[in-house]
Amino acid sequence: MSKPNNLESLWMPFTPNKTFKKDPRIIVKAKDMHFTSDDNRQILDGTAGLWCVNAGHGRKKIQEAVTQQIEELDYSPPFQFGHPKQFELANRLAEIFPEGMNHVFFSNSGSEAVDSALKIALAYQRARGHATKTRLIGRERGYHGVGFGGISVGGMVKNRMYFGSMLSGVDHLRHTHNPSVNAFSQGQPEHGAELADDLERLVQLHDASTIAAVIVEPIAGSTGVLPPPKGYLQRLRDICTKHDILLIFDEVISAFGRLGKATGSDYFGITPDIICCAKGLTNATIPMGATIVQDYIYESMLENADAPIELFHGYTYSGHPVACAAALATLDIYKEEGLFEHAGEQAPKIEKAAHSLKGTKHIVDIRNLGVIAALELEPRGNAVGARGFEVMKKAWDMGLMLRANGDTLAFSPPLIVQDNQIDEMFTTVKSALEQVD
Ligand SMILES: Cc1ncc(COP(=O)(O)O)c(C=O)c1O
Repeated sequence: MSKPNNLESLWMPFTPNKTFKKDPRIIVKAKDMHFTSDDNRQILDGTAGLWCVNAGHGRKKIQEAVTQQIEELDYSPPFQFGHPKQFELANRLAEIFPEGMNHVFFSNSGSEAVDSALKIALAYQRARGHATKTRLIGRERGYHGVGFGGISVGGMVKNRMYFGSMLSGVDHLRHTHNPSVNAFSQGQPEHGAELADDLERLVQLHDASTIAAVIVEPIAGSTGVLPPPKGYLQRLRDICTKHDILLIFDEVISAFGRLGKATGSDYFGITPDIICCAKGLTNATIPMGATIVQDYIYESMLENADAPIELFHGYTYSGHPVACAAALATLDIYKEEGLFEHAGEQAPKIEKAAHSLKGTKHIVDIRNLGVIAALELEPRGNAVGARGFEVMKKAWDMGLMLRANGDTLAFSPPLIVQDNQIDEMFTTVKSALEQVD
């Protein structure tokens, strides 16, 4: 397959357009653990695309389900009408999400799942008679997608600074990254549980009667992979419970096996009030997001609604039949192939392989959890991100896709990853690091 002859019309997201178009990286096919580039090279997928192709590429079962669904029912409106698969999918998700989380609101992306969660939190507080609880708390370095809600509670500077004042009434916890005491931790770092007490400080400042919800990623991904310090999430849960504040886990990357369980909540043994997910829900074949809430939130909204429609929110493509078909087939694959368990088995091997790179040129920290690892590089002078970007390009030339978040190189391969592919990922990146200044 040839290169498109004009790259100009497309405005690429989160991409340096000028640089990319001079030296493009074009992907034309994918199967299992590999992409094929337009110059017909096999590229090992070290990132499951963007943390989303958890069952590997080109899964027949999903293709067939999608094809059949388009033939049978291509679309039906989600407002005031239903179709069977969206109910079936909601039930299936309720089965694998934490106990008591039996109500699912569908959207089309992680960003929408987050904005839906924030809106549900606000509407719920109002419905149950706590209308002053309107403040939302996020965390520095958090990534919750790109909607105005998500960037307001998010904490990545570049994603916020260009876009005005965003939502009002938002505050942030400090992030948990503390390499001075935690560098080269294997799995969850020892130090930093007390950072959850920032929430107590914000309660002192704003009063709990003004705070609706706190949102965090159980393991921060896009900011460069920050596993939560031991005890941190439990402490956050306890403080939320004490002050009657909702805890939202953004599990857009941690759900569907990334940590060896259906959810990060399950892995950490902490149950939030609301979970956002997307990505691995359909194995990335059809866009879909979901916001799953505790029964008491749904029941209270239904009971206390002041209008026949209990939640004035939804998308034309909420619970799209084709996305539902893809998600159902994806959940079947996860179960039939035991992929969450397989991920759990591969996790220590990834940990070992990643940490074996300690001492390699440029590396100042290595972090990992589940089927996730990150190598943090020393930035090159003032050119923050330049070294990470060059290693990513070098790895691509050498047949490996990794993700550079600034100077942090992230790995999150499909959960089907085999031992030899784990070796290949880290051998290739080591060699790429040695070739870059
Ligand atoms: C934790 C988290 N939340 C939300 C999102 C946004 O998802 P989407 O790009 O599907 O809108 C992402 C995407 O990487 C994410 O990692």
